[in-house]
Amino acid sequence: MNRSQLIKQAKKARNFAKAQYSNYQVGAALLTEDDEVIYGCNIESKAYPTTMCAERVAIFSAISQGKIKFKSIAVVTKDGSTPCGGCRQVMFEYAGDIPVHISDLDGNESTVQLIDLLPYPFV
Ligand code: THU
Repeated sequence: MNRSQLIKQAKKARNFAKAQYSNYQVGAALLTEDDEVIYGCNIESKAYPTTMCAERVAIFSAISQGKIKFKSIAVVTKDGSTPCGGCRQVMFEYAGDIPVHISDLDGNESTVQLIDLLPYPFV
């Protein structure tokens, strides 16, 4: 699965977002070592801090299905924002230094290694 294909999946996942408070939908598509795609979307809660980011939903969902090795992740937002600090940490812990594909809704795609997003991870 190439970058554009994974981003397409993340775009699809973004449509499942529950972002009724921020109106900022995020979609993630996590590629497992077996080339399976695990979706993630942000899910907001009325008790705001209990909201969960799309990237962590994808990682936790995969792990809860027994999938523990990952090749890459794609994240789609309206403006192509990069993952938050908490998600960088969790992704690094469970996926290692994978490529993170980013895209906005205009199709501007880029890739950055996770270690470059989180140069000094807590390990
Ligand atoms: N959000 C994500 O899903 N991933 C990130 O890396 C940053 C932020 C979500 C959380 C919240 O639902 C919304 O985006 C606005 O912060």
